[in-house]
Amino acid sequence: MSFEIRKYFCPGRVCLIGEHLDYNGGFVMPAAISLGIHATVKSRSDTKIICSSAQFSNTVEIDLSKPIEHEPGWGNYVKGVVKYLGDTGLKIPALEVEFVADLPSGAGLSSSASLEVLLAYILQNEAGAEDINLIKTALLCKDVENDFVGVKCGIMDQFSVATGKKEHAVILNCETLEHEFVPVKTGDYGFIIINSNKRRELAGSKFNERKSECETALNEIKKHKPIRSLGEATKEDVLNLIKNNTAQKRALHVFEENQRVLLAGKALKQGDLFQFGKLMNASHQSLKNNYEVTGIELDTIAENAITIDGCIGARMTGAGFGGCSIALVKKSEINSFKQKLNQIYMSKIGYALSFYEFEISDGVGQR
Ligand code: GLA
Repeated sequence: MSFEIRKYFCPGRVCLIGEHLDYNGGFVMPAAISLGIHATVKSRSDTKIICSSAQFSNTVEIDLSKPIEHEPGWGNYVKGVVKYLGDTGLKIPALEVEFVADLPSGAGLSSSASLEVLLAYILQNEAGAEDINLIKTALLCKDVENDFVGVKCGIMDQFSVATGKKEHAVILNCETLEHEFVPVKTGDYGFIIINSNKRRELAGSKFNERKSECETALNEIKKHKPIRSLGEATKEDVLNLIKNNTAQKRALHVFEENQRVLLAGKALKQGDLFQFGKLMNASHQSLKNNYEVTGIELDTIAENAITIDGCIGARMTGAGFGGCSIALVKKSEINSFKQKLNQIYMSKIGYALSFYEFEISDGVGQR
């Protein structure tokens, strides 16, 4: 047994466009980012997994010879991954794992998917698994989040942090998992992440409510025609077949955002950043008016950002209800952009923003 230290990293992700489409079988365009979670790993000679984190005061301890129970807080993600991987027949090794994140937790940058995928990768690698299947790893982690933690998220986060590719965004069909990596070449412009510093609790939020409203929309359409997911509905289906008003608004977002992802993919390939920016703005408005997941903090950011010189597009990113936004800003204007936006936000909301400049990174791995 080796008592040496091994190091691993899993990125967070930012969704460039395509929000709340993954669990509706639509297209999304996320990218893995250079902010993420680092882990140092040591083998143990007993039957325990002991995890600690610089971000949380409690240690999570699992005795592999005993049944795994739920635990409040971050330990639930750890326990879910250990349990679900164990259930696949993997011989889980006894380990000591120390996590250090430079990814803010609960801010819409996939801190939970990053933790799940990182641990799932570590356990497989430390168990000596050859050719770790990253897509299967992402799917297992999504099951953990859906069924063990209880958040009915889609596959976007786990998929992007597991399979990410440096300097590329991925256009992912969440129904079939077919995907294409597209180079992100923004020239004189750059993406910047803006944290509203309004905390967002996924499990306690309206996330599951949105999911069930979309199920209502899908079921109403299914009464008239056979479709697999809301992402397949046409605009006519949405307007003519859905009677429930709220469900219809949610479905309209899904239809239009899906079109926007495809247009944004074209714009990115053609280097048409102005078009990309316009699509980001339209995405935000749809998330505000039809999907209703923004709130005053995220609206203040997106709607003011685009009035500032150099910014050509801005939108909330992630689940919404607080968390982060993303803006496309001329590199030479980034400092004055940050200062101006922060000033507006402080005077309206009363506290400061945080800004993260980042690179698009590779997915999980030993490094
Ligand atoms: C969260 C979920 C994702 C996705 C986004 C919204 O990040 O975990 O699966 O639904 O919200 O696009």
